[in-house]
This record gives sequence, C-alpha cells and structure tokens, in this order.
Amino acid sequence: RVIIKKTPQDAARTVADQIEAVVRGAGESGATLGLATGSSPVLSYTELIRRHREEGLSFAGTRVFMLDEYVGLDADHPQSYARFIREHLTDHIDIEDSAVQSPRGDAEDPVAEAARYDAAIGAADGVDLQLLGIGTDGHIAFNEPGSSLASRTRVKVLLEQTIEDNARFFDKKEDVPVHVLTQGIGTILEARRIVLTATGSNKAEAIAQCVEGSVSSRWTGSALQMHPDVVLVIDDEAAAKL
Ligand code: GLP
Repeated sequence: RVIIKKTPQDAARTVADQIEAVVRGAGESGATLGLATGSSPVLSYTELIRRHREEGLSFAGTRVFMLDEYVGLDADHPQSYARFIREHLTDHIDIEDSAVQSPRGDAEDPVAEAARYDAAIGAADGVDLQLLGIGTDGHIAFNEPGSSLASRTRVKVLLEQTIEDNARFFDKKEDVPVHVLTQGIGTILEARRIVLTATGSNKAEAIAQCVEGSVSSRWTGSALQMHPDVVLVIDDEAAAKL
C-alpha cells in the first residue's frame, strides 16, 4: 500500500498513526517495534513524543529493536545510532532504556555480535511493526546494493554513495565508519508489518525502483514487494517518479 501525502509533516502524522495503532493494540503485553535512524523518521518521532505528552500515548511495556549500527562506535558516541534513538525518541517517552536494543557497535567480535542480535530478535518473538527509511541507492537498513535478499544480521561494508550521504552527520567524510552491523533483508522481512517512509525528491528514484521495478538486489528495498503487509508513507516529491 502506498500512501502519498502533500508534505513531510503530513507523512509523519500518518506514520505516527500506524505506530500508535500497534502500540495501543498490544495493550499491557507491549508491542515490539523495529525502529530506524536517519533523518526520514525524525518528524514521526517528534509527533509520537507530542502524542505522549499531550494525548497520553503510553509506551510502557514496548520493546524496541534498532536496525543497524556503525562498527567501532559505542552506544554513547554522538554519531552512534543507539544514541540517536535516545535523543530523538526514547529519552522523551515512557520506555525503559533496557527495553531498547541495538547491535553493539563496540563488540569485540562484530561477526558474533551480529548472530547474537539476530537471535535476540527471534527470541523476543519478532517485530510487530518495523519502521524503515530508504537510502538514495535504494538500501534499507544498511543492506547496500548487492546484498542477498535472504540475508540475516551481519557485518557490511558501506558503499561510497552511502558514506557521502551520511557524512553530513560527522565532522568530515573520513570519520564515517566503513563497517556497519545491520539487520539483513531476510531478518527485516520477518517483521509482521513494515512501514517505510521517504520524503523529498532525492528519494524519488529509489521509491520508483522499489515499488515499480523488479525485485532485485540492486535496489534492496524492492524485496519489500515480497512481504504481505507493507505500507509506504511518502510525500509528493518522493512520489514524483511513480
Ligand atoms: C542510513 C540508515 C538507513 C536510512 C538511510 C536514509 O543508511 N542506515 O536506515 O534509511 O540512512 O537516511 P535518511 O533518512 O537520513 O535519508
């Protein structure tokens, strides 16, 4: 399902509606959310914080699994994704720190950490709703072009395009870690529902390829075509090439 909204703010409210429905629907047992970093979900997180403060939306009992992390950055590093989600969402809502899990970027053995993290998601009975952004080259999480569509959580090497795209969060491009830990496409596809959000004209090509192109490891977001319950929430600009 593709939902096209006029502005990024409208899209964020729709994404927040999707997340709120799952959180409220789970009741006391608590939902398991898969959350993403990057600029795309930030407005949605801001809207969830507003609903928590002004409308009593509670996240008590909610569990979170993050998608990915830079290898070599610990959870307090300013550019780590673990810190990103605390600053943009979880520090501002009623969710325990211990309920938010990320791949550990500072693990001594990243390969073993990837296997541990993949198993932890399974042991928690999977993810009810996975929120995704998309890279300009069509990647989801850090599953760069060429990734196996059956892949599990593992160590990946970033491509030049993604390093350039993400350099804006660092002092200089050379500071962007080359290695990352990321949930695999196969891992992501096990989530019961997937919501992908993208805004802006720089995502239009990736959205068109992933929605209307063939399923291919060249545009790893195209793997979502194989999932039975995916909602894309995009703005007019990101929809421009559909
Ligand atoms: C990174 C993240 C992805 C995210 C992508 C797009 O590569 N690993 O999860 O979707 O950036 O980021 P942005 O939303 O900032 O464009």
